[in-house]
Amino acid sequence: MSQYVGAIDQGTTSSRFIVFDREGRIIVCKQREHAQIYPRPGHVEHDPMEIWRNTQGVMQDALDGAGLTPKDLLSIGITNQRETTLIWDKRTGAPLHNALVWQDTRNDRLVTEYARDGGRDRFRALTGLPLASYFSGLKLRWLLDHVEGAREKAEAGDVLFGNIDTWLVWNLTGGPDGGLHLTDVTNASRTQLMSLETLAWDDGMLAAFGIPRAMLPEIVSSSQVYGETRVPFSGVPIAGILGDQQAALFGQTCFQPGEAKNTYGTGCFALMNTGETPVPSTCGLVTTLGYKLDGKPAVYALEGSIAITGALVQWLRDNLHMIKDSAEVESLATTVADNGGVYFVPAFSGLYAPHWNEGARGLIIGLTRYANRGHIARACLEATAFQTHEVLEAMEKDSGIPVRELRSDGGMVANVTLMQFQADILDVPVVRPKVTETTALGAAYAAGLATGYWKSTDDLVRNWGVDRRWEPNMDAGERRRITAAWGRAVKRAFDWDE
Ligand code: G3P
Repeated sequence: MSQYVGAIDQGTTSSRFIVFDREGRIIVCKQREHAQIYPRPGHVEHDPMEIWRNTQGVMQDALDGAGLTPKDLLSIGITNQRETTLIWDKRTGAPLHNALVWQDTRNDRLVTEYARDGGRDRFRALTGLPLASYFSGLKLRWLLDHVEGAREKAEAGDVLFGNIDTWLVWNLTGGPDGGLHLTDVTNASRTQLMSLETLAWDDGMLAAFGIPRAMLPEIVSSSQVYGETRVPFSGVPIAGILGDQQAALFGQTCFQPGEAKNTYGTGCFALMNTGETPVPSTCGLVTTLGYKLDGKPAVYALEGSIAITGALVQWLRDNLHMIKDSAEVESLATTVADNGGVYFVPAFSGLYAPHWNEGARGLIIGLTRYANRGHIARACLEATAFQTHEVLEAMEKDSGIPVRELRSDGGMVANVTLMQFQADILDVPVVRPKVTETTALGAAYAAGLATGYWKSTDDLVRNWGVDRRWEPNMDAGERRRITAAWGRAVKRAFDWDE
């Protein structure tokens, strides 16, 4: 009987279950989208019950679709949208509030208040992160302050906190009936509550943010057998957990210091493996956990997080109705030869790396009577490449390691116009691997390593292969001109919402 490894990929817009074979090939993939809830400007929520229902649904759909039974799965890995924060009642499993999605900025007052005393970087040395609305710690603080009774119940240990990985593991392993309450180091490193050095919740951070320890999950490695599923089917070991961007780093087999990947999804997240010691950032990146295999030292990464890239294309589709489906942005963008002087800074959730400007808001600039829909579409695509250029420049400065080629993955890598423009702007080749579902693959790899499906990371490196490579092909003067124009546009977006 051939056996496989499964991966739950719970992302910002959808939940998927993908089954992989030993070569890293996809046997079956099922997906369900969930609602994006925008109660007011800056607020972004998900319904945790919908996410849990969809996760169970795609797991069952995948098995049914491929004619598999749970016994065909040796183990399951989990990868998830990071930072998205929820609290739930330990006895009933009912969430006390919708999940606050990573893009949600409702806690920005807290960010300003904390930064007033010691600056935005006051917790950087300990946690690797600047103060920002993005990370879970202050989202959790907002929930404790605003949901009636939450703090008292949390102090009594009756209300649990989790990111989406924790929520899924708890439910998969029985929920109120003995569900495991844990999170892996990569997810924990996005809360701003964990010390990068000890890999434990830090008492000083808990006190500073007012977070009761009793509600926090246990921190575990990214690859070990944590327990077995009980729902929606029983008996499959859960053996890997990685935040989705770290999972992509793992799936791209960036195991050597200096190797980097960029995932083009809702946002864009460039990560570089920096080895076994955390590298502090002075250029606006974050220092984060890359992964930790059971019994091995932790591996760290530098990350350039960009909030809005693919989400801008969705916005063109859903809010402006300029295109019918996301793929159409490319054909619209190629109706024009260049951006016609139009730049689109998608600062919908402020700007993350390398600027960390909470008050930035989106703008389109450079409009003249000449500009048309094609130029707007082009400016949308280019925004992704310009933002990636900013974070990679910061990464080279922080790490002292030049990026010689960029491994790309995620939904937008199907867009060859974007990939070529990306290579042009970076002036380094951009490479797309054969399996672009590297996020799910990384989670499967973590689970498969823990259960002996793969013997070592060397097996994984052998699975990686190039599908396509884009070489830079832009005149240096032109690159400088348009990059400088982008930089001016970004500055204009700063501090709009004060
Ligand atoms: O930090 C947020 C990130 O994990 C979200 O990734 O792919 O779900 O947009 P994605």
